[in-house]
Order: sequence, then structure tokens, then C-alpha cells
Amino acid sequence: MAIFRARRVLWRSFSTVSSHPLRVCIVGSGPAGFYTAEKILKTHQGSQVDIIDRLPTPYGLVRSGVAPDHPETKNVINQFSRVAQNGRCSFFGNVALGSSISLVELRELYHVVVLAYGAESDRVVGIPGEDLKGVHSAREFVWWYNGHPDGRNLDPDLKNTDTAVILGQGNVALDVARILLRPTSELAITDIASHALTALEQSSIRKVYLVGRRGPVQAACTAKELREVLGIKDLYIHIKETDLKITPADEEEMKNSRIHRRIYELLSKAATAGPSRPSSGQRELHFVFFRQPDRFLESYDKKGYVSGVHLEKTGLKGIGSGKQIAIGTGQFENLSCGIVLKSIGYKSVPVDDLPFDNQKGVVPNVKGRVLSDNSGDPTSFENGLYVCGWLKRGPTGIIATNLYCAEETVASLSEDLELGVLASTTRLPKLGRDGLLQILDNRNVRVVPFSAWERIDKEEKRLGSLRNKPREKLTSWEELLKVAGSE
Ligand SMILES: Cc1cc2nc3c(=O)[nH]c(=O)nc-3n(C[C@H](O)[C@H](O)[C@H](O)COP(=O)(O)OP(=O)(O)OC[C@H]3O[C@@H](n4cnc5c(N)ncnc54)[C@H](O)[C@@H]3O)c2cc1C
Ligand SMILES: NC(=O)c1ccc[n+]([C@@H]2O[C@H](COP(=O)([O-])OP(=O)(O)OC[C@H]3O[C@@H](n4cnc5c(N)ncnc54)[C@H](OP(=O)(O)O)[C@@H]3O)[C@@H](O)[C@H]2O)c1
Repeated sequence: MAIFRARRVLWRSFSTVSSHPLRVCIVGSGPAGFYTAEKILKTHQGSQVDIIDRLPTPYGLVRSGVAPDHPETKNVINQFSRVAQNGRCSFFGNVALGSSISLVELRELYHVVVLAYGAESDRVVGIPGEDLKGVHSAREFVWWYNGHPDGRNLDPDLKNTDTAVILGQGNVALDVARILLRPTSELAITDIASHALTALEQSSIRKVYLVGRRGPVQAACTAKELREVLGIKDLYIHIKETDLKITPADEEEMKNSRIHRRIYELLSKAATAGPSRPSSGQRELHFVFFRQPDRFLESYDKKGYVSGVHLEKTGLKGIGSGKQIAIGTGQFENLSCGIVLKSIGYKSVPVDDLPFDNQKGVVPNVKGRVLSDNSGDPTSFENGLYVCGWLKRGPTGIIATNLYCAEETVASLSEDLELGVLASTTRLPKLGRDGLLQILDNRNVRVVPFSAWERIDKEEKRLGSLRNKPREKLTSWEELLKVAGSE
């Protein structure tokens, strides 16, 4: 308590000596960006917070990641929009760090820059055939069905095959499987992009294989999401009973993780619950364990297109601390399919002048303070530069995880302000918002403020109401900017 009071006094003394407000720019308007903004506005009275996003629409993966049939998860948007409407906060969409404005410029304009621009690329498997047509990342597929303007042209071929292979068994893999297998009448009343709904209505995919390189005890999904996919109406589930055999090491893993035990129990139950064969025309979901991709196979008839995955059987090897990794056995088999969705994780991308750990795909940081390089020296920080969310921790964690992540980053920022670490920057008045808008205007960047997003929001809801959907997303840059610009 005493420390808390002392800190408050220190902060008050900072704000009374500086005659100008603390100007903060947050890059990215996903959960990490909005939770950071909320916390800064609350903690630092008088601060001004600008959030920029490369899209004309806010909310990051809450809009373009969370599955359309999970509307309740998107309610967090109400909280974020209240933050954007705070008189000391502004949202500027259609402003991309890297192309509209550089990091160096932002750091000149603001006392503090917090990077929260997520992970917009993919981990690669790194095996032959990965660039064959029909091999997509789950990120691209999710952007496509969620109406992200950069995902609109994916046009996955769901008509010329009855089989899809999904690599990975995390929650994104389960989302993708559910969208492929769920009756389209149930998707039609969600905010799924209309181009995706049409393609899914015409889809000939009947079999989906979810391929994991480890076993049922190690599957990366969570119980609620697994239960949901197992509960899809009229779906045949196949799990090999031999894959369910467990070792003492598996037992140990389950003892240490209730989630893993629950997943294993659900899979074991599903393996025996249903009929032993699918009925005619029934959709099928196959869980394939202990298989890692070795190469993607090219079709003989359709050159350049994928026709299957060459899989290597694996076994598990303990590496200490209770963790087991997949090891190839040298035995192989083919799994035929006409489309592959790689759901093995997202990856962040660097921008110029930003220290970046290419190996981990994150900005090197200590509790959100950006480190000057990857040399391992944990004492050399970039003054006034912070990071939050997937760009800080890597591409894992649910929406709420970013709340704790933002609290940690803002605590570091507050501590630096209190201790005078940022004095060389915060002593000076900064142009902030006015300077940003001036540069963007000089470059003819069409900024989309929150009021213009509200126009998009209203129009999407209006279009949705015509089709009994909560919203009909505008899915092209042209449409989005047109509606944003209409008074
Ligand atoms: C497919 C999928 C489904 C998910 N479903 C759920 C779920 O149901 N429930 C749940 O709790 N969690 C879910 N999650 C996890 C959750 O979405 C993430 O934890 C969270 O969105 C990460 O927040 P973030 O702010 O770090 O990144 P993001 O949400 O990705 O936000 C990053 C923002 O930065 C912007 N940006 C990117 N590059 C730039 C740039 N150069 N300049 C300016 N702006 C830029 C992007 O447009 C985006 O708005 C899901 C994740 C995925 C991938
Ligand atoms: N409804 C929800 O709450 C929801 C929905 C979607 C996403 N999310 C969250 O978003 C985060 C990201 O999800 P995610 O599914 O993208 O990631 P994830 O949970 O990390 O799962 C990645 C999967 O890919 C596998 N994998 C990784 N590298 C591989 C390789 N080289 N070859 C084969 N397989 C490989 C992993 O297997 P190993 O385990 O063997 O590494 C794992 O099965 C997670 O925290 C997730 O919980 C939540």
C-alpha cells in the first residue's frame, strides 16, 4: 500500500511539472491495443491516446478471427467501442505502420509508442510442395470466411474434392473444421462473409482430417471448442482406438493438466460413442494422431495442384519437465485430399527500425519494454517504445490473455515514467495527433476515424437485417472506404 501511494505521488509530481499531456500512439486496434488504451487512459489522467490500424475497421481478430458462429465472444467489442469514444482517445483506421507512417516518425511525434499489431503471417511447415495450389494457411481461410478485405480473393476450391486435410489440432484448426462441416443453414444466420457462405453451400467437402503430430493427450485445443465440433449435427466421428493407448508419461502430463485430461476423456468417449461406419452421404471428421507432414503431393492430372499429404508416423519422446515431443519413425503413408489448411500457428512480421526476433517471431522485450536488440542483453531498452499482445508473447492466448498482457506493459510504462526513465522524451512537448494527421494528409492517406467506422458498422447491420444476419460484412477495401467516406 505504501509503495502504491509513493508511486501515485511520484506520478502526480511528473504530471504537475510537465505542462503538456502525455501523448501515446498505439499501433493495432485488436484486444491488445484496446486493453492497453483503456489501462493508459485510466492510469494516466490527462494522457491522450491515438490508436492506428491498417484496416478501416477496428477490433483485430475479434472481427477477423473469432468464428462467425461465436457471436457472444464478440461482445467484448462493446467495451472496446466505449474506449474509442473516450474524449481523450482517437481511432485512425486505414493507417498502416510501415507504409503510411514509419516507426521513426511515430516515435518523433509521440512520447510513447505501444506496438500491438498482432501476427499477420504464418508459421511455415518448410517441406516440399508447400506452394502447390490448394495448400492454404488457416489464417488466409479464416480471413476469407470472416470477410477480411485481404482475404476476399482467396477463393478456396471446395467443389472439386470431397476431402480436406487440416494440419494442427489447436482451436483455430477446430474452428476451420467446424466451418467446413457445420450445416450451412446454421452458418447463414451468422455474420459469415456472403462469398464464403455461398461457397460453403456449394461445397462438396464431406471428409475432414484433423492431423496432429502428437497424441490425444497433447492436442492443443480446449474442451469447450472440442465439445462443440464433436456435437455438430449428423457428423460421423472417427478416432482410432489404438491412438488412445496411453503411456506413464501421458498419465503424468494429464496429472499436471486438467485441460489435457478433459480433452483426452472427450476424445476417448467420442471414439466409441457413435456408429462404427458413416451412413451414406454423412459428413465425417477424422482425428489423426501421431502423424507429421513430410511433403505435399502434386496431382498427376492437375499439374501444380495438391492431391494429398505424405505423412510420417511419429512417436513421443520426453524432453524433461513433463513435455513430450514428436519424433519421426521413418514410416510413411499418404493421405489423399484436394485441399490442405495449415493451422500450425500465426507469425508476426517486423517493420523497419524495430528490433525483431525472427526465430520466435516476436519483438524482444522484458515485460513489454522493447529491447534494443536480440543479443540477450536485458538492460538496453528502446526509450518510449513498448509492445503488447501476440507481437509481444507470440501467437497464443485468448482475448482475455491480452488484458493481463496489457496490464503488464502499462505497469512497465508507468514505472518508467515514475522513475524518470522517459524524462528525456516526456520533457519535450510532442506534436502527437496534429502532427500525425498532417503527415498523413501530405501523403494523401485517407484516414478513417471512429465516426466513419460507425458508418460502416451501421451499414453492415442494415445489410445484415435484410438477410436475417447480425451484419453483412463489407469485404472489399473499395466498399469499406466508400461507406466510410459517405456523410
Ligand atoms: C482464428 C482465430 C480465432 C480466435 N477465436 C477466439 C475466440 O473465440 N475466443 C478468444 O478468446 N480468443 C480467440 N482467438 C484469440 C484472440 O483473437 C487473440 O488472443 C487476440 O486477438 C490477439 O490480440 P492482438 O491485439 O495481439 O492481435 P490482433 O487481434 O491480431 O490485432 C492486431 C491489429 O493490428 C492491426 N495491424 C496489423 N499490422 C498493422 C500495421 N502494420 N499497422 C497498423 N495496424 C496493423 C491489425 O489490422 C489488427 O487490427 C482467436 C484467434 C484466431 C487466430
Ligand atoms: N475459441 C477460442 O477460444 C479460440 C479459437 C481460436 C483460437 N484461439 C486461441 O488462439 C491461439 C492460437 O491458436 P492456434 O490453433 O493457431 O495455435 P496453437 O494452439 O498453438 O496450435 C497449433 C497447432 O499446430 C501444431 N503444429 C505447430 N507446428 C507444427 C508443425 N511444424 N508441424 C505439425 N504441426 C504443428 C501444434 O502441435 P504441437 O502441439 O505438437 O506443437 C498444434 O496442434 C491459441 O491460444 C488458441 O487457444 C482460441
